[in-house]
Amino acid sequence: MYRDRIRNAGLYNRIVTADEAALLIRDGMTVGMSGFTRAGEAKAVPLALAERAKREPMKITLMTGASLGNDLDKTFAEAHLLSRRIPFQSDPGLRKAINAGEVMFVDQHLSETVEMLRTHQLPDIDIAIVEAVAITETGGIVPTTSVGNSASFAILAPKVIVEINLTQPLLLEGLHDIYIPTKRPHREPIPIVAPEGRAGLPYIQIPPEKIAAIVITEKLDSSAKVTPPDDETRAIAGHLIEFLRHEVKMGRMGTDLRPLQAGIGSVANAVLHGLIDSPFHDLKMYSEVLQDSTFDLFDAGKLVFASASSITLSAEKHDEVMPNIGAYKGRLLLRPQEISNHPEVVRRLGVIAINTALEFDIYGNVNSTHVGGTHMMNGIGGSGDFARNGFLSIFVTKSTAKDGKISSVVPMVSHVDHTEHDVGILITEQGLADLRGLAPRERAALVIRNCAHPSYRDALADYYTRAAARDGHTPHVIEEALSWHAALRERGTMMKD
Ligand code: COA
Repeated sequence: MYRDRIRNAGLYNRIVTADEAALLIRDGMTVGMSGFTRAGEAKAVPLALAERAKREPMKITLMTGASLGNDLDKTFAEAHLLSRRIPFQSDPGLRKAINAGEVMFVDQHLSETVEMLRTHQLPDIDIAIVEAVAITETGGIVPTTSVGNSASFAILAPKVIVEINLTQPLLLEGLHDIYIPTKRPHREPIPIVAPEGRAGLPYIQIPPEKIAAIVITEKLDSSAKVTPPDDETRAIAGHLIEFLRHEVKMGRMGTDLRPLQAGIGSVANAVLHGLIDSPFHDLKMYSEVLQDSTFDLFDAGKLVFASASSITLSAEKHDEVMPNIGAYKGRLLLRPQEISNHPEVVRRLGVIAINTALEFDIYGNVNSTHVGGTHMMNGIGGSGDFARNGFLSIFVTKSTAKDGKISSVVPMVSHVDHTEHDVGILITEQGLADLRGLAPRERAALVIRNCAHPSYRDALADYYTRAAARDGHTPHVIEEALSWHAALRERGTMMKD
């Protein structure tokens, strides 16, 4: 009876089918589910619930760690199951429902959700669904490839459904460090002073009687779509490495740099990959998601330790890494996302934060979430947690999108996720703008010269010249500031005739 996976014999009688477990969820409930960047999400019960919602219309508020794999968000959107979704998603189907105003999406800094739950600033969790590799003798839940918000969901919910996934290797056990901060206002400092620091237990401890159902599954995590580096992402990586070399030369850090964080997406993955051919060594990561590039850096002997909240791999990398995950033990740690992204720890460690922008403006404000200023892409994720508190706050993007019809460098961003105060360095394939210590008027000249694509550089320079002729600390031709986005909406391109 899965004795190696369910080690508390008193829980055997809780094993049920996914359909039976899904019956514990009722219309109007708030559900907290495991899953972070398409890794470690519950898989069988959510699908059973979506099927049920097709026959028996119902709505739930769904909170997760971050995005879900196995097309779950798409399936939920098609079943019209979601009234509210928190705090991150990356699914085109759900994105459509959000942008149509059907699903109320609360786009949150990933470190904040459980902190708000604890103090009842968000609806209380009625039930948690958590994927696990095993349940210990004491009822401890051993998570799989992500921790995300699972620990706090399970602790705060009155009932917990555990999905034991037989495809997730038992070797994952021991990789997790579940630390829950003490109560405010007299909270103890979080006792993590290095990426490899451990502060908690290797499982989520809850009273076993709260485990209302156990479902056995064999569904794999979805694989990440990893776009191989191209000329532009290689150029971005080149500029970043040159910049880091300069920082080392200036004595601001050693050749082991500072702990690295890299955001999701193809650009960040490619940039991290570029470190393989860099002069840096003994690197560490303190990040929220570990992608293929992390394991490439391990295998190249560049990386010595990586801490995050999830492991999201391509199919190829998954087959290579997962059967041998034991070989990475001692070099890898998965934490709750409130700890992996915690401002206190990020600031203490001096993390180098590397995140991707959709667009940035000539003064350094960054839009990571809203296409054209109105349409949700994925969400802010952890980018704000790291950018606001990092030792270096770096944003990367290609200088144009959609075959050059869109300039990623604009006069004024159409939505602000990261203000100029939280942004230190901007990089495109064209070059790098180091904004540290610069006033807005100094920033604009540098951003236009170093980061803009040549086909938009003159138009940006013309805008800035006219803006700078007016007075103001941050000069704008305010009636024209969003005209590039208006042109995109009206004519399908920001390019002047
Ligand atoms: N306007 C409109 N669309 C744009 C754009 C812009 N200025 N810049 C990029 N895009 C489009 C691209 O064309 C691409 O479209 P496609 O999916 O139809 O091909 C899409 O956005 C993704 O861009 P890409 O260049 O492939 O970058 P990416 O995969 O690295 O993703 C973000 C970029 C910004 C969407 C992604 O990094 C993100 O969601 N960031 C916010 C969350 C975050 O930073 N988390 C960090 C911690 S994990």
